[in-house]
Amino acid sequence: MTEPTVPAGPAGPSPDPARAGRKDEHVRLAAGQQAALAAGAGPRNDFDEVELLHHALDGVDPAHVDLTAAVGPWRWPLPLYVNGMTGGSVATGRVNRAIGIAARATGIPVATGSVSAGLDDAAARATFTVVRDENPDGFVMANLGADRTPDDAVRAVEMLRADALQVHLNAAQETVMPEGSRRFETWAGNVAAICAASPVPVVVKEVGAGLSGRTLARLAGLGVTVADVGGRGGTDFVGIENDRRPTRDLAYLRGWGQSAVACLLDAPAGAPHLLASGGVRTPLDVVRALALGARAAGVAGRFLRVVLDDGEPPRDAAATDRAAARLVEEIEVWRSHLAALHGLLGARTPAELMTTDVLVRGTVREFAALRGIDVGALTRRTAARPAPDLSPDLTARHDGAPHA
Ligand SMILES: Cc1cc2nc3c(=O)[nH]c(=O)nc-3n(C[C@H](O)[C@H](O)[C@H](O)COP(=O)(O)O)c2cc1C
Repeated sequence: MTEPTVPAGPAGPSPDPARAGRKDEHVRLAAGQQAALAAGAGPRNDFDEVELLHHALDGVDPAHVDLTAAVGPWRWPLPLYVNGMTGGSVATGRVNRAIGIAARATGIPVATGSVSAGLDDAAARATFTVVRDENPDGFVMANLGADRTPDDAVRAVEMLRADALQVHLNAAQETVMPEGSRRFETWAGNVAAICAASPVPVVVKEVGAGLSGRTLARLAGLGVTVADVGGRGGTDFVGIENDRRPTRDLAYLRGWGQSAVACLLDAPAGAPHLLASGGVRTPLDVVRALALGARAAGVAGRFLRVVLDDGEPPRDAAATDRAAARLVEEIEVWRSHLAALHGLLGARTPAELMTTDVLVRGTVREFAALRGIDVGALTRRTAARPAPDLSPDLTARHDGAPHA
């Protein structure tokens, strides 16, 4: 298969080399972190502190589960999406092409990485638009930093014919990034202006340091209706940017921020609809996030690992097709496991998981205690469910007739 939309080689213009190099480095360093996580090294993952109470008679047949997720004004086929990662270089354009192909095959929503490079550099555009080209009717989110203008936001949406615009807040990353942009005081105003100007709903997200309860309340006040808490525990951009610093002197900031689990617990009433990402490794982590109030969960690093071959982006069109096939297979496994886990927990829909019983342990419990959050109530939520009906013959037997 050819790659009609990704410019490469001497015939076409090449994306700005410095920026493209940074995008390639991000992928390489994120892949290294995923390898370490897979080997059991890496940061603590708070999803491990979330236990779902097993009720042996509550299960439902997975065939009766409807996995449709209600997120903001949308209905997604699964409570799962591929989070914003990349684009801006030829190699990352191939990663995006694989993601676009997999999105079309599976129907799940996907985001590109920050399209700033595509707005500023015409030669980089196709490395993002390839996601839409491969997936013309799917749900695609464009992604932009909170330092960009409302006009940029409109252009980003137009460029991808996007269904939503992700706006990322990444102060910790920008603090450590050698070429970081640190005009943080302007961000809240920019977010409000972008929400007002964007022709599609805005999803504000963190990139791995989490959105606190205070931030979620502020975002609601700025007009944000959907927020991805993007917490600590998976890809660590402080670590990635520190590895790009000549002196590597900010290593002590690794693990900055709160996990998605902590953020979901911290979310105030009246928060935007919540999405959870950051350290989502398995369908069980998705289910844990849904039980804590998320409407869907986003996966970045774990799916990037599937697309890469031995840590490397696809080298040509054939390798991109193979990468896409691997990602389709992975997403289909997640789909089937999600249905199985819903069935096991007796949830016919993702929304029903919000009334399942949850035990929160360890350092997350300590976080909740310090923040004054009552996690004890989460352990007894099924008590409010209506009692299941007894079948008529059992009811008859209980009406007086002694057992033979
Ligand atoms: C290689 C790579 C590049 C990323 N680039 C972006 C980006 O441009 N914009 C953004 O909002 N998030 C970006 N992210 C962050 C992810 O969307 C996500 O918030 C973060 O990786 C945590 O999720 P994970 O633990 O599943 O990887 C990137 C992640 C990876 C792995």
